[in-house]
Order: sequence, then structure tokens, then C-alpha cells
Amino acid sequence: MLGVVGVGAIGAAIVTGLSEGSDPPEILLSPRSARVVSKLAAAYPNVRIADSNQAVVDRSDVVLLCVRPADARAVMSALQFRNQSLISVMAGIPLSLLRELASPAKDIARAIPLPSVAVRRGITPLFPATEFARRLFERLGPVVEARDETTFDHFSAATATIAAHFLYLNQISNWLAAHGVAQSEAQHYVSAMFAEIAVSLHGHNSDFETLMREHATPGGINELFCRVVGEEGVWTAVDTGLDRVRQTLADRQRDL
Ligand SMILES: NC(=O)c1ccc[n+]([C@@H]2O[C@H](COP(=O)([O-])OP(=O)(O)OC[C@H]3O[C@@H](n4cnc5c(N)ncnc54)[C@H](OP(=O)(O)O)[C@@H]3O)[C@@H](O)[C@H]2O)c1
Repeated sequence: MLGVVGVGAIGAAIVTGLSEGSDPPEILLSPRSARVVSKLAAAYPNVRIADSNQAVVDRSDVVLLCVRPADARAVMSALQFRNQSLISVMAGIPLSLLRELASPAKDIARAIPLPSVAVRRGITPLFPATEFARRLFERLGPVVEARDETTFDHFSAATATIAAHFLYLNQISNWLAAHGVAQSEAQHYVSAMFAEIAVSLHGHNSDFETLMREHATPGGINELFCRVVGEEGVWTAVDTGLDRVRQTLADRQRDL
């Protein structure tokens, strides 16, 4: 039995991906977020709702912890764990704290799922890649084994760039709109252009510099744009933003 404590956006995405895949596991959900959990239980015969968080822990061989990081200590402290397997997706909660709060459980993994696990196309960094964590997330797309917890936290920082990617597309779309293209047409154009380009990222051999060169004719307008945004400090700002995210995650760990 897989138990899930905290069924919000990412908990529901994981349950959906597992339940719609082949040979779905039995899943027991914590009762909070009644609307979401009843929808999942109604949609999938392998999903049930427990009476309490403790009932989830008591009846599960593997417990998936998906509450918000700020709630982690309170939620976990209120639970009595056994020596069972745990997987935490809670960003920035280090293994040392998980071990302390989930004692005597020792088989503990951290994971960074993406919302696309719902359609089993997520890529999920794990640390450590315990057998249970690997088996679970391999059902939802490829997994990446981080070599240590610091590297795992760097993967976590990298996921902070996703919203900015959409802002970048929004900026291009707004520029078109400001120059006379209807807003909806601009959005449609930019979406279609980047959706098609994203296809070239599938597979394991994306060499971004090669892809960049393939799209940048020497002396052409792509090359010009790359140069200007570089001169304006955009690429440096990406590094600065990632460093700041990493530092913020580290500071939060100290404050837990
Ligand atoms: N969203 C993502 O793409 C993503 C990706 C990777 C990792 N994560 C991590 O996943 C965790 C959840 O993120 P999220 O985006 O799914 O947040 P979310 O949508 O807010 O989900 C958190 C859920 O936990 C519930 N909860 C709060 N207290 C609880 C308790 N005592 N017992 C049981 N459930 C409780 C919340 O219910 P209420 O709303 O009623 O408080 C909510 O349904 C975070 O730690 C985050 O770092 C998220």
C-alpha cells in the first residue's frame, strides 16, 4: 500500500499518473483537501481515503510526504512512524530532519517530481535513489539519481526557472502585441513556435550550444538577439537568480 500525506497539486499529480498507468498500486490518501481526494477516489478504484494522517502511516508500506515545507515539522511530529519506507517531495527539507521526524524509519528518499508526472512524462531527481522511490517514480517517467544531497538541492534550484520561462514567452508575445498584432494571435504564434522547438529537446542528447547554432545563421537575426541579450546581462542574471534560489533554500533549511 502506498500512503500519501498531503494531497494538493503535486500529490494529486502523482496519484493521477500512478492510477492511470498500468497495474496501478493501492493508494491511501490523507483526508484533508476533501474536494481533491474525493475526486481522485471517485475516479480511480485503486484509491481510497483514510480517516486520518496516522491511519495512512499505519496502513502503508511506503509513505509519500507531500505537504508544504512550512507544514512539514508540525505534520510529521504528530505522526508515529514504523520502520517503513518514506519518500519526501517537500522542497528544502533535508534528510537529516526527515530522519529525526520520522524515526525509526530509515529507508527515506527525497524526490523532485514535476507536474507532468500526471501524464507519466515527468523527470524526477532522487536522493538517495532507494528501491521504493525508484520503483514508484520510474512509473511516471525517467528518474535521475543525484550523486549527493547537495547536487539534489541544485536540481531543486533549477526547477525554480520554469515560471520565468513562461514570462520570457509572455515578453515576446507582449512585444508583438505592442507592435500591432492582436494579443490572442501573438500568444498563439509564440506558443506554436516554442511548442515545436521544444520537441527537439526530447531524448538524451540535447546539446544546447549545438541547437543554438542550428537556429542562429551567422550574421543573422537569432545571432544578433543572442548577442544583445547577453550584452544586456540576461545570461548573467540567470546564474545570479539560480545562486540566489540555492542560497534561499539553504537559509530555509537552517531555519527549519
Ligand atoms: N507543485 C509542484 O510542482 C511541486 C513539485 C515538486 C515538489 N513540490 C513540493 O510538494 C509539496 C506540496 O506542494 P504543492 O504544490 O502540492 O502544494 P499544495 O497544493 O498546497 O499541497 C499541499 C497539500 O497539503 C495539505 N495539507 C496541509 N496540512 C496538512 C495536514 N496536516 N495533513 C494533510 N494534508 C495537509 C494542503 O491542504 P490545505 O490546502 O487545506 O492546507 C494541501 O492540499 C511542497 O513541499 C513542495 O515543495 C511541489
